[in-house]
Amino acid sequence: MTSQHCKSNGRKRLSLFALLFFTTIQLGFAQSIELGEELFSSNCASCHYLGPESKKLIGPGLADHTLEEYTTEWLYSWIRNSAELIASGDEAAIAVYEEYNKSAMPAFPYFSDEDLDNVLAYIEQGPAEVVVDVAEVGVDGEASATSNTMVVLVAALVMLLLFAFVLARIKNVLKEIKGQETSSLLESALIWLKQTPIVIALFCIFMLLYALGGAWDGLLTVGVQKGYQPEQPIAFSHKIHAGENGVDCNYCHSGARHSKSAGVPSANVCMNCHTYIAGESESGKEEIAKIYDAIGFDPESRTYIEGYEQKPIEWIRVHNLPDLAYFNHSQHVNVAGVECQTCHGPIEEMEVVEQYSSLTMGWCIDCHREHKVDTANAYYHDLSENWVEKYHGEDISVDKIGGLECGKCHY
Ligand code: HEC
Ligand code: HEC
Ligand code: HEC
Ligand code: HEC
Ligand code: HEC
Ligand code: HEC
Repeated sequence: MTSQHCKSNGRKRLSLFALLFFTTIQLGFAQSIELGEELFSSNCASCHYLGPESKKLIGPGLADHTLEEYTTEWLYSWIRNSAELIASGDEAAIAVYEEYNKSAMPAFPYFSDEDLDNVLAYIEQGPAEVVVDVAEVGVDGEASATSNTMVVLVAALVMLLLFAFVLARIKNVLKEIKGQETSSLLESALIWLKQTPIVIALFCIFMLLYALGGAWDGLLTVGVQKGYQPEQPIAFSHKIHAGENGVDCNYCHSGARHSKSAGVPSANVCMNCHTYIAGESESGKEEIAKIYDAIGFDPESRTYIEGYEQKPIEWIRVHNLPDLAYFNHSQHVNVAGVECQTCHGPIEEMEVVEQYSSLTMGWCIDCHREHKVDTANAYYHDLSENWVEKYHGEDISVDKIGGLECGKCHY
């Protein structure tokens, strides 16, 4: 009995120990993957696609199985200086180079062993799945509110008609009992209208007001540009870049995380890749040549033309709030953790960008009423305890922290 007890206790302790052990390992591991991801996205992502299918960008796709081919030592030397490794006559290195020999990989001699371990751990794990929260996109409160009112109105009308019908029946039954002449609902309605012309006048006034109301609504939505999709000076496709090639939004719109504006990338950013990619199809070549023309690059000699007067690419702005409104990207992307797609729709499927949301004041406010604030966020750390007291632990939506105050959104 006692020995049995002891044994099961021992087993418990053992599994507890194992649990602790593995959690610690995992914690340590997760951290290095995070650092690896940072290193990868700033140094490697422009040339290497990371994902389940090994797609080729400039370099080969680095899916987990690619790494199984090489030893860690080989990968260390390759990443630190691939040219040196090739020159040393290493067979594997020469084979990789021949396969992709149109461009050599830059050297990263300043990477420490730890950096390299982190990057390789990240490559091995692959990018975390992007969870796109499109559910909230449907928060188009105005539309659903209008359709709700319509349902109520129609229901009320049906009830009234039924009621009138029943009353007319009762009246007819009473008349029959008295032996008077009966009339149908329609007949008595016409007679009643003839006797009371004021009803017709009121009806006309109502219709007039209704029409005016429609016109007013129309005026309020002047300038609402939902669906706006201008043709751009270069046929840049988000589907090819963000979709098929999986380039991260932040690679080109780095401002979205740290500042008010997301920003549109300059031609230099395009050249990180298009120095090597001149296009395959005729139309692709033509469009990419426009980048070279803007920045002064000669694709034949692969050199920048000296003394060239660069012409900025004049992208046409798609999203545009009026000057009176203030919107800050980092507050939404970084602090609130809202996905780009919640507001901009499935950009990674668009050949040509289009304005997906209405961007009206009602749109902002609807989301502020519904969206919960992440109270665990360090940004609000000091405040969160007060809130929990004030709202007795219920969820706190953005309106409760002042998200409906005029001054927050208007200068
Ligand atoms: C400017 C583009 C570029 C950048 C940046 C770049 N690479 Fe490469 N990489 C290449 C090319 C091109 C090849 C193919 C071999 C060659 O032509 O030199 C390659 C090959 C590789 C290979 C061998 C893959 C295989 O399938 O055999 C590995 C591993 C690798 N790169 C890792 C990295 C890592 C890690 C980074 C970031 C620290 C990085 N690369 C940054 C262009 C790049
Ligand atoms: C390779 C660079 C690149 C990547 C990656 C990229 N974009 Fe863009 N984006 C651009 C360029 C260039 C424009 C301007 C031309 C246009 O509107 O198509 C643009 C325009 C936009 C616009 C419209 C801006 C306006 O004028 O109002 C939005 C919104 C946008 N991108 C969102 C995204 C999102 C979300 C992602 C990730 C899914 C993403 N972009 C990935 C380069 C990029
Ligand atoms: C909460 C909604 C929301 C989210 C989330 C959001 N945006 Fe925007 N975005 C807007 C609004 C509103 C505008 C128009 C801003 C203006 O005109 O001042 C805009 C404008 C833009 C523009 C063009 C103008 C500029 O600011 O430079 C780009 C590019 C853009 N967004 C990209 C992104 C990317 C990339 C992400 C994700 C990292 C993102 N947005 C996340 C609402 C959002
Ligand atoms: C991270 C690498 C990368 C960056 C940065 C990048 N591109 Fe590309 N781009 C590609 C790849 C890969 C293709 C597909 C190549 C092909 O089809 O031949 C491509 C194709 C294109 C095409 C041809 C599309 C077609 O129909 O064939 C155009 C135009 C283009 N890019 C414009 C741009 C512009 C403008 C920028 C800067 C705002 C940019 N790219 C930045 C990787 C990049
Ligand atoms: C998809 C949901 C969503 C949409 C759409 C949205 N917001 Fe927000 N907004 C948030 C969230 C969540 C926060 C809280 C962020 C935080 O924790 O500070 C926030 C915070 C803000 C704040 C700061 C409020 C405060 O008290 O600190 C301002 C200002 C703001 N939003 C403006 C706008 C404007 C202007 C628009 C429309 C153009 C808009 N937002 C559209 C979700 C949204
Ligand atoms: C969450 C952000 C937000 C808050 C809070 C907010 N607004 Fe707005 N407001 C906007 C945006 C965005 C627009 C631009 C809408 C457009 O272009 O259709 C706007 C437009 C307006 C306009 C111009 C009307 C029009 O249709 O062009 C007025 C007036 C206005 N707001 C008044 C107010 C007042 C008064 C309050 C406080 C009770 C307030 N707003 C609170 C975001 C906000």
